[in-house]
Amino acid sequence: MNILILGSGGRESTLAWKLAQSKKVKKVFIAPGNAGTMNYGINLNLNPNNFSEVKEAVLKNNINMVVVGPEDPLVNGIHDFFLEDDNLKAIPVIGPQREAAMLEGSKEFAKEFMKRHHIPTAKYQSFTKDNLHEAYQFLDSLTPPYVLKADGLAGGKGVLILNDLEEAKKELKEMLSHYKFGKASAKVVIEDFLNGIEMSSFVLTDGENYVILPNAKDYKRIGEGDQGLNTGGMGAVSPVPFADAEFLEKVESRIIKPTVEGLKKDNIPYVGFIFIGLIKVNNEPYVIEYNVRMGDPETEVVIPRIKSDLAELLTAVADKKLDQFKLETDERSATTVMLVSGGYPASYEREKVISGLDQVKDSILFHAGTALEDGKVISNGGRVLSVTSFGKDFKEALKRSYQSIEKIHFDQMNFRKDIGFDL
Ligand code: AMP
Ligand code: GLY
Repeated sequence: MNILILGSGGRESTLAWKLAQSKKVKKVFIAPGNAGTMNYGINLNLNPNNFSEVKEAVLKNNINMVVVGPEDPLVNGIHDFFLEDDNLKAIPVIGPQREAAMLEGSKEFAKEFMKRHHIPTAKYQSFTKDNLHEAYQFLDSLTPPYVLKADGLAGGKGVLILNDLEEAKKELKEMLSHYKFGKASAKVVIEDFLNGIEMSSFVLTDGENYVILPNAKDYKRIGEGDQGLNTGGMGAVSPVPFADAEFLEKVESRIIKPTVEGLKKDNIPYVGFIFIGLIKVNNEPYVIEYNVRMGDPETEVVIPRIKSDLAELLTAVADKKLDQFKLETDERSATTVMLVSGGYPASYEREKVISGLDQVKDSILFHAGTALEDGKVISNGGRVLSVTSFGKDFKEALKRSYQSIEKIHFDQMNFRKDIGFDL
């Protein structure tokens, strides 16, 4: 079969790397991809949100399956677009339709879903500019810190956590009345602050059945000790050492099962990955958020720990035969450390020549923001390269990643030296 992966980051590089190893796969296409995805398949220069471009590429290249990396094509309805087109409807899309993608596309939708299905999450209320006064009263009734979430997609920046009540009110007004996050903050969810340690579960579902993929923990802040601005993710560890069997059993019975069953009860079809952001509070799991795709850089540790053939797994999803699939995973730990451009997540320079890539032998390099220029690999984004390694535990794996990083260089390269510090 021929598979098209939509997206261009470390996540898509990892999916391409894994799918290229499948005996079932003839050709892997990545759109638009990066300098690294060319090692596993063919890059197609198109915009995943331009569905007619996607259609043309799918028909021209005899694509048999589309795997959607990022959330925006899903929220924009790429799966629905395929189902509504006579020439495309037989081609499976891995990723939910627009309605289910609202689990990520609207915080309020996700909260209502969780409430309806008794899935543990922080208590909340949502507000628009028309009930700003009630929102202030609600804030008055809470104790700090205050958690304000833009309802819509805000590129991971739409959540504010504030200690001061007056500042929280000011920010709330900025969000609701002055569109601090554009249309995304025309509605704001205010919720209780949960104090605990975060991790993520990854589930693949065909709408009826599910398999639980390896879990992971990512490090979102730019600075060591989890300080500073939020990024897309600076590193990840899988499995999560504090997620013992008892805790994972709670996650499955209280969160994963009710999520898949809740979708069924609500008649919301779902084919694809569910990424459940969790927080462990006094040994009890709560949902912080749903994403309707894999995480980045979590994919760079989760997928390498899957021993099963990924194309077979995704075919079982498309055929709704996931109940017959026996997932095999690698017992070892995997870690990834993200190399980023100096300045990221604020402004940064691109087009820095990256050297030393061919010196790395003990890690897998997943390209993120890279491009090829005159035969040289150059930086082309904030997050540039994801350096993944295996080890008997996460410490050994991390040591390998950091040793590999010593061989890689580009001007103003930055990375966190403390991934896993809190484990
Ligand atoms: P979200 O976009 O909903 O994942 O929120 C972004 C980040 O804000 C999460 O990864 C958490 O670190 C933090 N966060 C969100 N909601 C809460 C909450 N209710 N209590 C504590 N921290 C939260
Ligand atoms: N690493 C977090 C995310 O992919 O949303």
